[in-house]
This record gives sequence, C-alpha cells and structure tokens, in this order.
Amino acid sequence: MQAEDDVTMTRTGPGTRCGALMRRYWQPVALSEELAPERPLVASRLLGEDLVVFRNPDHTLGLLQRACAHRAADLAYGRLEDGGVRCHFHGWLFAPDGRCLEVPAEPVGSPFASKVRIGAYPVRERNGILWGYLGPGTPPELPSLDCFAAPDAYTFAFKGYLDCNWLQALEVGIDPVHASYLHRFETDDDVEASYGLQFRGVSLGSDMPMTKILREYGRPEIINSRTDYGQRIVALRVLDGVGQDGSAAHVRITHQVFPHGITIPLSPTMSITQWHVPIDDVSCYWYAMFTSLDEPVDRATMRRQRVEAVTLPDYKPVRNRANGYGFDPREQRMLTYTGLGPDINVHDQMAVEGQGRIHDRTRERLARSDRAIITYRRMLLEAIAAVAEGGSPEILLRDTGDVDSRGPIPLDAIGPTEEWQQVWGEAIAAQRAASPWAKDLTAALPTGPAGGVGEVETDEP
Ligand code: FES
Ligand SMILES: [Fe+2]
Repeated sequence: MQAEDDVTMTRTGPGTRCGALMRRYWQPVALSEELAPERPLVASRLLGEDLVVFRNPDHTLGLLQRACAHRAADLAYGRLEDGGVRCHFHGWLFAPDGRCLEVPAEPVGSPFASKVRIGAYPVRERNGILWGYLGPGTPPELPSLDCFAAPDAYTFAFKGYLDCNWLQALEVGIDPVHASYLHRFETDDDVEASYGLQFRGVSLGSDMPMTKILREYGRPEIINSRTDYGQRIVALRVLDGVGQDGSAAHVRITHQVFPHGITIPLSPTMSITQWHVPIDDVSCYWYAMFTSLDEPVDRATMRRQRVEAVTLPDYKPVRNRANGYGFDPREQRMLTYTGLGPDINVHDQMAVEGQGRIHDRTRERLARSDRAIITYRRMLLEAIAAVAEGGSPEILLRDTGDVDSRGPIPLDAIGPTEEWQQVWGEAIAAQRAASPWAKDLTAALPTGPAGGVGEVETDEP
C-alpha cells in the first residue's frame, strides 16, 4: 500500500478527503441511553469535531458544536432550558437549529442575538442510536437495512471504545479467517447458555458448536463480491475432517455495509450491524445494532453482558492497553488463543490496538485471506476520489434496491456442500416469512442484496 493512500483512508477530520466522504453518511453520535432523563445532554466527539447532542422537553433533538459561539465555553456544561442550550458563562441561548435566541447581557431590544449562529447539524434517533449528519446539503434517508426497518423492541444498541484508528477496527470485521485463530476456544461451552454471545451457539441446521467448527477448520475458502450496499463476504468451510466426508459445509456470510459498517450473524435469528465511527484519527467507537427476526430482544440480559466489560460514561473497556488486557499466559496455553478470557470484543480490541494508534499499511504483507480487505480499500479509495472530484460516493446513498429492506442478511449455517446458496436462501426466506415484523417487507434476495451480487473478486493485484 502506498503511504499516500494509507493517509487518505485513515484521516477523517474537517477538510480531509475521507472526512468529506464520511460526512455524506449519517453517523452514530451517541446511544439513546446516554441521554439521561434528568438532563438529556451529552458531549460527543465525531470525525474530529467536538459536539453536544441533547433532547428538549418537547422531544426535539439538537446537535451543536460544543464550543460556545461567544467565547468558546464548554456547552457540555450548559443549562438545558428554554428550548435549547444556554451557556453557563454569559447566558447565550442556542436553539437546536443553531440560532441564537437570547444574548441576555445586551441592551433590551438589541437585534444582536439574531445575527449570531452556532454550528448545528441534523440529528435523528433510530433504534437506540442518535444519528448526526455532518455533510453538505440535504441529508440522505437512512438506508433500507434491517437494523433500521425493525421495530425498536426487536433491536438493542450498545457501543465500545477502541484506542486506535477507525479503519483497522473495521478491517477486523471483514477478515473472516481471524475467527479461527483469534477467537479460538479449546473447549465448547454449553450452547444453551449462549444467548447474546458471539461464536458460542450452534450453526443453523446443525447441533455442532460454532467454536468447534472454527477451531477445526482454519482454512476457509473466501468468496467476496462487490454489492450495491458494499460487499458480501462468504467463508466456506467444507467439513472433510475426521469422521466427515465433505458432503456438508459450514457457510458463514457476512457483509460490509458502506462506508464503515459490517453485518454479521449472532445466532440463526439475530444479526449484528456494527458501525466503526471515528472519534478522531487515533480513536473510534463501535456502535452495534442487534436485530432479532423472531422475538423482542432481551435487552436487560444483553446490556448486562456488555456493560460489565466497560466503564461508564465513556464505554471504555475494563481490559485495555494500560493493564495489558488482563493477559493470562496460562489461559493462553490451556483455554483460549489470546489468553484474554471469553469476551471476543476484547480479542478484537487487543488485535487492532496492537497494530498501533494508526496502523501503518506500508508495512503489511497481505495474504490471500485478506481479499475482502483489499476489495474494501479499493472501494473506499474510489468513493473518496468520487467525492473529491465533486461527485457522489453512490454506494448506499441512493437506495436503488427497490425493496423495503435489503437486509443484508448474514448467515452461519451447516448444510449440503452443493447448492448451499439455494438451500440457505430458502431457509432464510422461511425465517423472514415467520418474522412478525419482516414478513410483510419486500426484502432483498435471502443471501444477497437486491440487484444481485457482482462478480466474485479475483486475486489480481
Ligand atoms: S462563552 Fe458562552 S455565553 Fe459567553
Ligand atoms: Fe473478531
């Protein structure tokens, strides 16, 4: 990778080329749960910009620059009153749309306030997350994805901090091989106790624990193709080991959702759509939207499982760089590949933070298993160039799928090696037909997007 391309892809602050691309898309600003009932206002740093997001008593939302337009006092400590945020320094009051409503120390009748504005962005709330649009012009609609189409009760949102650049955080999510190594467990848990946990259940169509498959088949065939939402990534593991004859295969289909999301399966009926959002160039948050097809989500359980692993209010992992991630060499020998315990988020965290605050891609030696990452970087650079030339990144901005939801539908399943695409397409279509909220939606092809899947990417450089 050229150093110039690496810099282009990783820098997202105001005035940068990748920043201009990212600003064409809605970005997660905060979790809804961060807006505390007593004072629903929270600071957020996003794409190198410091902001505050708040909810007025009439439920209107505001997303403003954090520094007061007067003399830059911190509006994170402002007073939420009179239809906006009032700065605690000299009492200037700002409306959600950025207008200055009052400058109380000015003479009575002064028109001064009407000439003042503060930076303000469109904001909306959907399924547990507040979304901001930091780009030019009219914002696009949120794309037609299951995580947005599902009713609130069928979703759960959470987030976590990573002490590194956003791109390496995304790239671990489109690297299907690492699951056989980084997330390897030497024992298989009770799959009955796997609710809400990644890689601890069984694959659809079998009673074989996912942990066993990932451990025993570490050389999947990766079939990746560009789609009109990003990329579809298939990891195929033909089960031809001891006691198996190769007639069955493990199929794992995940998706890259442009520009910085992934969709992966958690269980046969629950998916995770995860966005990798730059705080600035050296830190990011992942925002995960869990979406259930069949039943409302048990939020209390899922939140409890995750909140124990972070400190609030920053959602920073308890295990981190500063304490060596709680690394245990004995555990690494006996139980897990990493020696970090069972939480796969910590595994991913150690892997990507270990690459450095901003991973230097000129030092890489990419292999065949990195093909989805290679494709993604090409797509990202093409989209960045399109915006820099005054055009549109296109992907997922104008929803051309002509469906209520394009999914994209992830899958983790075991079935016949031949015809896997058709078998699982029909199985997922049946699941959607049984879903209380998805059954009436016109949906994308069960294992791919509406509009078809592009050519499978080749190994050509
Ligand atoms: S700095 Fe905010 S009102 Fe003066
Ligand atoms: Fe991972």
